[in-house]
Amino acid sequence: MPTKTNILNEGKSKIVYETDDPDLLIIHYKDDATAFNGEKKGTIVDKGVFNCRISSALFDMLKKAGVPNHVVQNLNEREQLVRRLQIVPIEYVVRNRIAGSLARRYGLEDGPDLARPMLEFFVKDDDLGDPLIGREAILILGMATAEALDEGGAYSLKVNDLLKSFFAELGISLVDFKLEFGYTADGDLVLADEITPDGCRLWDAKTGEKMDKDRFRKDLGKVEETYARVADMVGSALGA
Ligand code: TMP
Ligand code: ASP
Repeated sequence: MPTKTNILNEGKSKIVYETDDPDLLIIHYKDDATAFNGEKKGTIVDKGVFNCRISSALFDMLKKAGVPNHVVQNLNEREQLVRRLQIVPIEYVVRNRIAGSLARRYGLEDGPDLARPMLEFFVKDDDLGDPLIGREAILILGMATAEALDEGGAYSLKVNDLLKSFFAELGISLVDFKLEFGYTADGDLVLADEITPDGCRLWDAKTGEKMDKDRFRKDLGKVEETYARVADMVGSALGA
């Protein structure tokens, strides 16, 4: 089993370690929570454990449905062994309903369904505050290839179809979410990072209650309880 050598990168919610195998990394999920591009900081007790469980279960389900990802195996309740990827420095956001920066940008009310899923690209750069970017700008500035945008975009919409029906069965409306992709040493594009309530908007389908990081962003209370509940619901549904 590969062992950790040094920290490759410490982000806002995870630490990435190199291992004695150059192709393998270890991801450690922290309890730290940030919002508004790091301006708001806090801790959500055991978030790392809940997110590791949620992401592992969802990635596994998506893999069985034909969406490959970087996870090799889970090591413990907070850590995954993953393949080293060359990360595409673009965040792929899919939206089903109006919320968040889409509502703010165009002065819209939160909530209405979109006519069809909307794919948006953001630059993966905390110093810049992850700005929205168009396909043309990405290509002209050489930030990613057309193939990465097209293949990643198609995977993103497929993930949306699968997750939307999965969460609907649990009585949860999948409002929007963010994905990241990267290339393996063999040149295959695979899903990277995580799918957790940190990077998704999940609303109770009946009451509209928020079941995601907006509880932390907006000080809505019951933050830990909500992450625990989502982890339980996802875990029981997927036998994870
Ligand atoms: P937004 O409404 O702030 O643009 O975010 C849309 C969704 O994508 C929301 O569920 C949060 C997620 N997201 C991140 O997790 N990190 C990011 O950097 C961005 C831009 C979005
Ligand atoms: N990536 C942003 C941040 O962490 C989005 C957010 O969670 O508010 O600051």
